[in-house]
Amino acid sequence: MKEIVNKIYYVGVNDRNKNLFEGLWPLPNGVSYNSYLIDDEKVCLIDTVEVDFFVQFLENIREVIGDRKIDFLVVNHMEPDHSGSLALIRKYYPDIKIIGNKKTFQMAEGFYGVINGLLEVKNGDTIELGNHTLSFVMTPMVHWPETMVTLENTSHVLFSGDAFGCFGALNGGVVDSQINTDTFWLEMVRYYSNIVGKYGTPVQNALKKLVGIRLDYLCATHGPVWHEYVEKVIGIYDTLSKYETEPGLVICYGTMYGNTERAAEVIARAASEAGVKNIVMYNVSKTHHSYIIRDVFRYRGLIVGAPTYNTGLYHEMDVLLSELAGRDIKNHLLGWFGSYGWASKAVTEIQKWNDEKLHFEVTGEPVEIKQSLTPETKTQCEALGRAMAERLKAV
Ligand code: FEO
Repeated sequence: MKEIVNKIYYVGVNDRNKNLFEGLWPLPNGVSYNSYLIDDEKVCLIDTVEVDFFVQFLENIREVIGDRKIDFLVVNHMEPDHSGSLALIRKYYPDIKIIGNKKTFQMAEGFYGVINGLLEVKNGDTIELGNHTLSFVMTPMVHWPETMVTLENTSHVLFSGDAFGCFGALNGGVVDSQINTDTFWLEMVRYYSNIVGKYGTPVQNALKKLVGIRLDYLCATHGPVWHEYVEKVIGIYDTLSKYETEPGLVICYGTMYGNTERAAEVIARAASEAGVKNIVMYNVSKTHHSYIIRDVFRYRGLIVGAPTYNTGLYHEMDVLLSELAGRDIKNHLLGWFGSYGWASKAVTEIQKWNDEKLHFEVTGEPVEIKQSLTPETKTQCEALGRAMAERLKAV
């Protein structure tokens, strides 16, 4: 097993089988469920793994400690991709003490019927393992109510739960300095925006609690162990949780016969000619909304357009706007356009999403296209693209 530092071992597993994380989010590069084992006078496991991987997990643990007992299991997060092996670990190690907070234990009972052998900790509490000392910091709502993080104070390791995590299995290497990290950066943004994105304020509160603490290793529950890039990773989470963006524009559209797509092309060209360099465009029926959400977190400007369908909004656009509305995204600009063959609806439905849920700053005049682009609606599309460009430049 991989020793990270000073008898702290990686004992996690990789999932390259699942298509959709949480049944929702594509995993083109897989995902890892990270668990860590501290081999000291008292042996301590930090989090478990999804239950399907229990056999591999147990082998990993035994490779480090053989037949010795585990004294403690710290549960930083109860979501079942990490707590899933809790009940089985208890069967193999009946004397193990489970460390968590009050909310952890309510969930442990609810999910697994575990009610005994619990050791409750509060913010700032410490536990001595021998050469290692653990202290616990409560970080509620990152992104569940029971979430906490655990500091190992001798080697300055933070076991951070989902915080600082990202999608992507670990293909051999575990610590960032031993692997090519290129593929992980955008997947970190997609992971953050999709899974944690709604909880910017709790993430900011958690980051404030870590200010001034030396952190040499970030051991999250997904993705690489961060050592060389600790500062960069904290910076990414800080930026995203403040809803800070790069200059740029996301244009996404639904289209049935190409008319709405042509309008999107006109808008994009106008925005480009007005000076916007970062423009990404997506057909919402082709690209999974998790990638669009990711780019909305990266770029301040968003223009959406869709046809009317069944006298309502084109379904895939409705799904995207619903997902965006669920994330309380701040400091963004929105322009929109819509089309119809015989019943005008898309434009007013998009406006309703923004008025009632999204609350992005309205930018430019919405454009409505009946059946196909005309010289007049083409001019309106160009004006919308230019208005977004001008507003982006003024930010
Ligand atoms: Fe990776 Fe919130 O579970």
